[in-house]
Amino acid sequence: MSEPLVIGFETSCDETGVGIVRGHTLLADALATSSPAHERFGGVVPEIASRAHLEAMVPTVHRALAEAGLQASDVDAVAVTSGPGLTGALLVGVAAAKAYALALDKPLYGVNHLAAHVAVDELQHGPLAEPSIAMLVSGGHSSLLLVPDLAQEVQSLGRTIDDAAGEAFDKVARVLGLPFPGGPPLDRAARDGDPRAIAFPRGLTGPRDPAYDFSFSGLKTAVARWIEARERAGEPVPVADVAASFQEAVADVLTAKAVRACKDHGVDHLVLGGGVAANSRLRALAEERCAAAGIVLRVPSPKLCTDNGAMVAALGSRLVAAGVAPSAPDLGADSSLPIDVVSR
Ligand code: KG4
Ligand code: ZN
Repeated sequence: MSEPLVIGFETSCDETGVGIVRGHTLLADALATSSPAHERFGGVVPEIASRAHLEAMVPTVHRALAEAGLQASDVDAVAVTSGPGLTGALLVGVAAAKAYALALDKPLYGVNHLAAHVAVDELQHGPLAEPSIAMLVSGGHSSLLLVPDLAQEVQSLGRTIDDAAGEAFDKVARVLGLPFPGGPPLDRAARDGDPRAIAFPRGLTGPRDPAYDFSFSGLKTAVARWIEARERAGEPVPVADVAASFQEAVADVLTAKAVRACKDHGVDHLVLGGGVAANSRLRALAEERCAAAGIVLRVPSPKLCTDNGAMVAALGSRLVAAGVAPSAPDLGADSSLPIDVVSR
């Protein structure tokens, strides 16, 4: 018998994602985004995101099925992000997944969005080494995880105490006059800059600071103050140098903490995920430092790093293979689902 076919629904933020996998093989990854609708607000507006999910949900399911050349009745299990994320946005995906599971009479798996960001790498690089350390950096989260068993046991080692890494990129980009979301244009601007031009602070890196927690709010403020001072003095702002120096500060802290977590826990595999894992400097520095420390680095391609349905299907597939019990039919959305709850 071939491996089960799993469809995954993702609606925790502004991307409506529907992915289809069989085992570790990706068959379809359909995406709709409401990102442009949030642009003028400089951040995701929950009501706009929920409404957009509602409109995009069914057409995105149809696109995914067409891409895979399958019928809904071919599906063996339905997986959906049940948290963490925006409540109203999550509810659209959960309601849709419940409806499909009920109509098709197939098991339903409510999964954790963060664990799904880790699971997606299996579609590209095969079974995850366990234990692995995972670092998830996006617009909504910045977390260091210890993953002894992706289907059942994920532990939080640290997280951001203020802004998420992607949020810092978005806010600094805004101050520099770059478009939203700011990560990609800032990454591009930084290519022509000097990462050593300005010594921006590295948050929470003192000897008494928590080893695995992050803080980006001080860095963001330092960049804003530095720019203000230049403007007050009537001097031009060297956008490329500011971008490169800011990006260096973020990449330095993230990679140092991730490598330290691997060493402290005797783990020799590191997985990156989340939109910020697309950052060119973060990837390069992570490669350099992992190679020096004898750690195997796994980074999914940028399209799989950002929110998508394939990651949810990938985790669903892992749960089915591990024989984890499906969710109850009254599965709800939990905006603050703890990371140690992989599925519920
Ligand atoms: O994972 P994601 O698509 O959505 C969530 O927030 O869950 O991540 C989006 C974030 C945004 O803040 C965006 O600016 C950032 O990822 N990002 C980047 C890059 N590409 C996307 N940040 C830095 N460098 C990039 N190349
Ligand atoms: Zn995410």
